Parts: sequence; structure tokens; C-alpha cells
Amino acid sequence: MKKVFIRTFGCQMNEYDSERMYALIKDEYILCAEPKEADLILINTCSVRKKAEEKVYGLVGRLKHLKKARPEVIIGVCGCVAQQEGDKIIKRLPHVDMVLGPQAVYRLKEALDSVRQGKGPVVDVELRKEFRQPLIFPSLNGTAPVKAFVTIMQGCDNFCSYCVVPYTRGREISRPPEEILAEVECLVRQGVREVMLLGQNVNSYGRKEKNFPTFAELLREVAKIPGLWRVRFTTSHPKDLTLDLMRAIAEIPEVCEHLHLPVQAGSNRVLKAMNRGYTREEYLEKVKRLREFCPEITLTTDIIVGFPGETEEDFEETLSLLETVRFAEIFSFKYSDRPFARATQFENKVPEEEKARRLKKVHELQEKITREINESFIGKEVEVLVEGKSASSQEMWAGRTRSHHVVNFKGPENLKGKLVRVFIEDCGRHSLRGKFVRDLCKNAEISVASTNTGDPFLFFGTKNENES
Ligand code: 5AD
Ligand code: SF4
Repeated sequence: MKKVFIRTFGCQMNEYDSERMYALIKDEYILCAEPKEADLILINTCSVRKKAEEKVYGLVGRLKHLKKARPEVIIGVCGCVAQQEGDKIIKRLPHVDMVLGPQAVYRLKEALDSVRQGKGPVVDVELRKEFRQPLIFPSLNGTAPVKAFVTIMQGCDNFCSYCVVPYTRGREISRPPEEILAEVECLVRQGVREVMLLGQNVNSYGRKEKNFPTFAELLREVAKIPGLWRVRFTTSHPKDLTLDLMRAIAEIPEVCEHLHLPVQAGSNRVLKAMNRGYTREEYLEKVKRLREFCPEITLTTDIIVGFPGETEEDFEETLSLLETVRFAEIFSFKYSDRPFARATQFENKVPEEEKARRLKKVHELQEKITREINESFIGKEVEVLVEGKSASSQEMWAGRTRSHHVVNFKGPENLKGKLVRVFIEDCGRHSLRGKFVRDLCKNAEISVASTNTGDPFLFFGTKNENES
């Protein structure tokens, strides 16, 4: 067998695409941990922020020596930087053999054949008008992970003024519901217990297509699949969060009580310049309604600091919004100019040091809120879906609560893939710690597939490289 090295940067969509790329070639290649061992190197890239893109150029640049020593190695740059840069990548880095945009990663086999036949570099960055993803079911060979991603749509129509995504992933296209259900069923049959439905804006699922269900209706259908215990989804755009969806989150037992709802900024002036399509007041009203429907819901968000023209007063409004909503966790970023994005042309750019200062203030405030929320779990019992052994200790199991908090705990053998109750005794910055109480799978209501006994799903060896 030949060897493939895959490195994935960026969001869950990219992780999903990398999994599918590997599924396409796994009869020919096994995964390896180092580029120097590989016959094929695939770098699945992210260009959402400048820092992520710079990392990609650094990494691919360093592969030049490897290609010189072993010219037969095939190097592919895939994903969003590939889409954004196209054949400029080949010009800048001539040791690259393939440039495949996010919608072309499914043509990996054809591209490989073409390179092997000596036809020169392959560049495919065409943006398709339909959901072209072939149905590829990862064959998990009895080593199913506990949770899996399932793409339900691609692209985005929102054109937030800072964002490159509509240009790299194209216009929004929803995947036919029967394909989504077939993929989830296939995963569940192999032992997957939790799915995360993915899209840039899942809340607008199906809106552009005739006779497609709404996202809330899709959720209800997915949740009916026997053997699926938990359903999550990301990302939700606040402007498209409907009462109907709030009701679905509250009513469907399988849908976990966690919503990632990126707000980006707290000031109406900045939100308008960002083209987000909602005001601070509308956002807060939706949070209020959501908490009425589902009081135990946990919220997380994304924040950008230092958007062009963001004044100290605007920034203070972001801080006050964080205090008002009290997100369990946030992902915060310094604004960076992106190709094609409108804000790149805006004046009044905020100096780097000022962006860094604002980011630090956001971190400090959020750290306090996160700690308080984590501490509020101490002394309580939670439901945990066990994903495997803890990253920090083989003695401990690790899993997540329905609210998406990581829990590490000591417990009996063979808990992977089980749903258990854990009593929380302590917490850190990023996780809760506790002790095992009881195995819910022994409860007659839950039937457990016997597949979750093998090695961890191999693919996760290709760790994601988020830069933040
Ligand atoms: N600068 C900084 N952060 C950005 N994001 C998207 N584009 C930019 C940019 N140009 C952040 C947003 C988004 C997350 C995925 O990345 O917060 O929600
Ligand atoms: Fe980018 Fe806005 Fe679309 Fe999210 S909703 S992908 S931030 S354009």
C-alpha cells in the first residue's frame, strides 16, 4: 500500500472534506503521520483569516525539499486557499501537482490519474451550481467513531463584508434531504451515535430549492433515525434563526441543548458595516426567546475585534454584549483583510497593537465568564457520551455533555460509545472533571450497537490545525 499524509486546517467542513478525500483513495493508500514517509501529500487549506492562509504557504513551501529529493511524491493543495489562489499556487510553488477547490476535492482520483500520466499540474477551481458531492459512505470497518460530521449544504449567500467564504465556497446550495438521511443512516448502522450537521448557515437550509424541507423539518427527520442518540448542527446565522427552529431545538429530544450563534460584534454601527442583517437588540431578543423555549440551552459565539472603523465605544458594546449573554465559550479573532471581501477596501483600519489589546480584553472577560459557567456544574450530574480515552491521561475517559462541555472522568472499562451519567467534582478552563455514576446503556430504553469496540477511527490522526 502507498502512503498518504493529510493535514487539515480550518473548519469542520474541511475536516469532513478530508475524510471524504481519504475515503476515495483508501483502497490504494494508508494514512501516515509524517510528510517525509508519504507518496501523496494533501494539504486541505483554510483562508478565512490571514493567519490560517500564511500557515498554509509556510507548510507547502517547506515541502519543496522533499519533492526535490523524491520527485515522484504527489503534492495537492486543496480547499479554500486553493480556490482563492487557483493557478497562482503553481506559479508560486511549482512543486505542487494539484490545486483542488472545495467543490473539486471529490475529483481527487481523476486528478491523481492525470498527474501520474504526466499531464502536468491539475488546477480545478470551478464553482459548480449544484450539489455535486457524490455519495461516499466512509466504510468504517467496524471501528466507527462515536460522532461524525454530515454536510447538509455548501457555500454561502450572505456576503458579510469581512468574509471570503462566499468566494471560496461559492453560492449556497442545499444537499437533497434523502442523501443526508441516507448518509446519517449509514453512519448510525456502523455505530455512530452523534451527528453534527454542517453548513455555513444551516438555518437557511432548503430555502432556495423547490420542495425541500426547512431546517427544522430536516432536524425532525434526522432525529427519527433509530440508534442515533444526539444531533448537533453548525453554523446558525442569527438573522435566520426562526421561532420554528427554536421550537424544534426545545422539542426534539435528540437535538442537544447547544447553539453556536456567531454575533461577531456588539455595536449596531459595526454590525451594519459587517452586513450581518441584524441589530444588537434583535440578536438579544432571539437569545431571550431561545432561552424561554429551552432554558438549559448553552450558547457559544464568534467575535471579531478591530473591524475597520470600530471605535473604543463600539468595542465596549461587544464587551457588554458578552456580559449580557454570558456565552459558555467564544472564538475570538482580530479582523484581517481578506481577498474579495468588501471590508478590505474600508478605511479607518484599526492598528495591529490596538486589535491585540482588544482581543486580550475579550479573552480576559470571557475567561471569567467561562470559569463561572464551568464552576456552576460542580456538584451536578450530567449525561456524557463517551468518545474515548482522555487526551491527557489513559486512566480517564473523555466525552461531552449535551451542552458540548468536555468531561474527563475515571470509570470502568469499555465505556467508549456509551451514554453515562457523571458527577462533576471539579473544572478547569476547558473541561469538567468528575466521577462515573452509571451506564445509561444498561437502561432498557437504549440499545447499543456492538461496533464501538475497535481502535479509534484512524482518520483522526490527521489533526485539525486551527490557528486561533
Ligand atoms: N477577520 C477576522 N475574523 C474573521 N472571521 C471570518 N472572516 C474574518 C476576517 N476577515 C471569523 C468570524 C467567523 C469565523 C469562522 O471566522 O468570526 O464567524
Ligand atoms: Fe462568511 Fe457571513 Fe457566510 Fe458566515 S454567513 S460564511 S461569516 S459570509
